[in-house]
Amino acid sequence: MGITLKTPEAIEKMRIAGQLAAEQLRMIAPHIQPGITTNELNQICHDYTINEQQATPAPLNYHGFPKSICTSVNNQICHGIPSAKKLKNGDIVNIDVTIIKDGYHGDTSKMFFVGKPSILAERLCRISRECMRLGVEMVKPGIHLGDIGHNIQKHAEANHFSVVREYCGHGIGKVFHEEPQVLHYGDAGTGVILEPGMTFTIEPMINAGKRHVRLMPDQWTVVTKDRSLSAQWEHTLLVTEDGYEVLTQLPGDEI
Ligand code: MF3
Ligand code: CO
Ligand code: CO
Repeated sequence: MGITLKTPEAIEKMRIAGQLAAEQLRMIAPHIQPGITTNELNQICHDYTINEQQATPAPLNYHGFPKSICTSVNNQICHGIPSAKKLKNGDIVNIDVTIIKDGYHGDTSKMFFVGKPSILAERLCRISRECMRLGVEMVKPGIHLGDIGHNIQKHAEANHFSVVREYCGHGIGKVFHEEPQVLHYGDAGTGVILEPGMTFTIEPMINAGKRHVRLMPDQWTVVTKDRSLSAQWEHTLLVTEDGYEVLTQLPGDEI
């Protein structure tokens, strides 16, 4: 299929899908409290997607994924399956929502604190957000994807954290995961050159310890091999004529 350049009509639909995904994260935020289960968060998001947004939760049944959102807690890196386990004070949790509206996907995630985080957890969540943001702010026609990965890796490692290699950002549109792959590490001046009309995610996964991952027996949940904390932030972006538009940013919110 290659990299699809979106038409103005497709871009308008991507904007709508992106805003709906972002509104999910805003909606779920006040529910993230000690004692709630990730199953309950999943149910709230699922119902909101279907009933309030008349949209479809993309993760549900995607390659067999059993729930409507991903919830990745503490040492879980990504693709955590919502469960009956309660969140507790001091946990950090990534909520990753992807919705389909009018055939197009919007994909975004952020970190939430459950009660009061440790100093390390707070720093990891801040630095990983900075990694995502500095990647986003580089986006414009003519740069290489490798420029983005390189700067994300530099910022993470300067703060003595590591970048997960096995999972990456991705092109997105009618298809959930399409080309190009957006690596969060690597060499400047390598890889795809950006053009207006491309849409893709930037979603660095940053570990407090070593970069290595382990897949849990459920075949979905990815955890840090050394059991260190991990954090991730994700936005869906459009390359414009002179820069970028963050399709999953709500008016008044910071990147
Ligand atoms: N939302 C994830 C991403 O950012 C993908 C989740 S796929 C699932 O690409 F099947 F685990 F839901
Ligand atoms: Co994504
Ligand atoms: Co996502």
